[in-house]
Amino acid sequence: MSKKTKLQAPTGMHDILPEDQKYYKRIYDVVSDIADFYGFSKIDTPIVEDLELFSKGIGASTDVIKKEMYTLKTKGGDLLGLRPEWTTPIVRSYIQNGMQSLPQPLKLWYFGPCYRYERPQADRYRQFWQFGFEVFGEQSSVIDAQVIQIFYNILKELKLKDLMIEINSIGDSNCRPYYKKLLSNYLKSRESSLCVDCKRRIKENVLRILDCKEEKCQPIKTEAPQILDHLCEECHSHFKEVLEFLDEIEVPYTLNPYLVRGLDYYTKTVFEMFFESDNEVKGLPAGRRALAGGGRYDKLVKLIGGKDVPACGAAAGVERIISLMKAQGIEGAKDPEIQIFLAQLGGLAKRKSLSLLEDFRKSKIRVGESFGRDSLKAQLNRADKLGAKLTLILGQKEALDGVVIIRNMKTGNQETVKLDKAVSAVKAKLKK
Ligand code: HAM
Repeated sequence: MSKKTKLQAPTGMHDILPEDQKYYKRIYDVVSDIADFYGFSKIDTPIVEDLELFSKGIGASTDVIKKEMYTLKTKGGDLLGLRPEWTTPIVRSYIQNGMQSLPQPLKLWYFGPCYRYERPQADRYRQFWQFGFEVFGEQSSVIDAQVIQIFYNILKELKLKDLMIEINSIGDSNCRPYYKKLLSNYLKSRESSLCVDCKRRIKENVLRILDCKEEKCQPIKTEAPQILDHLCEECHSHFKEVLEFLDEIEVPYTLNPYLVRGLDYYTKTVFEMFFESDNEVKGLPAGRRALAGGGRYDKLVKLIGGKDVPACGAAAGVERIISLMKAQGIEGAKDPEIQIFLAQLGGLAKRKSLSLLEDFRKSKIRVGESFGRDSLKAQLNRADKLGAKLTLILGQKEALDGVVIIRNMKTGNQETVKLDKAVSAVKAKLKK
């Protein structure tokens, strides 16, 4: 094949092949069950939005906006961005569709692809799927705890092991400006020892320095003033309550004063759930990977143009969960089992089988077949493999006589019934 014709999926993006669909399905099923239980309604938004929505909501100086946005100009001249996350589009939709006037708290959930132009590596893709939950119109700390509990429950329901939750509070407009000043004064005194990115961050986004993974910044971080010591009264008691609720519902967590998250809209509580291992686990490289993250964002609705509505939510990365499921030997959704198998021999029998198959579909009986095959032995083997309880055999003679043979695959017993009685006979046998 010439180089020109060897077309590939775009870098960092991949097909979701049939063998992987069962993992997406399993996660979807667990998430939608839990969403129903906690009273969340599903929402979808376009995968593109006005670019301004993202820079305004996520923050112009964040990596997501500065480095990772996929942007496009439409023929009409509009500047759009592929969604790198769902929270800002949902806030836009909440305002645009008048959801502020509906009874609050308003709870929404979602499941779909996001796009970030990141350097592709294990578990970091340029197209990845997120599911998430957002709660609008409730400032009580119980919501923060409940959002964390929901994600913990989903990961537990999926049977994932060795999960950790880290939590922090990054204050609000009352206490954060003072802390940021304190932190930048401290960091300025150590500026020469910081990495290049952090030197830039002192001016642009000082809190992100706390999140820096560079070796040389670690000792400076350790001695930095901590936000938890500088929260205002309200943020302090809100955070204390969140922790008390988590204790009450026995969700384990650790405090991480350096957790600040990569998006600018957070206030008060922030958290992440992750899996960490020192060694490679069945193809999963050693290290720490965030499976989910979120927190409170009480100022975002107003920032995007809505009323002053508090909100809290989180999102999880589906591919990261899937690679952990595979590493921990957890299976995806099971293929639906067939109940009966329809075997046929000869031209007339094949034709009659086609309409018989439809009769079974209408009666909601799951049928396996391999109409392309002509050997009865091969078809019976297949019926066995698929776990059919009964096999219906329709040969040339049966087709001419208008009957079909029903074979019990366990006992080998056979019975011949009229074609128009096949469905009721099968139903009766399946009931036994
Ligand atoms: P985030 O931490 O940027 O938060 O993303 C949430 C999750 O998406 C991460 O924990 C990770 O599992 C997954 N993820 C992020 N980037 C990638 C990537 N390049 N490849 C694979 N997986 C990835 C948010 O997006 C916020 N909107 C969460 C939120 C909702 N906060 C409040 N409400």
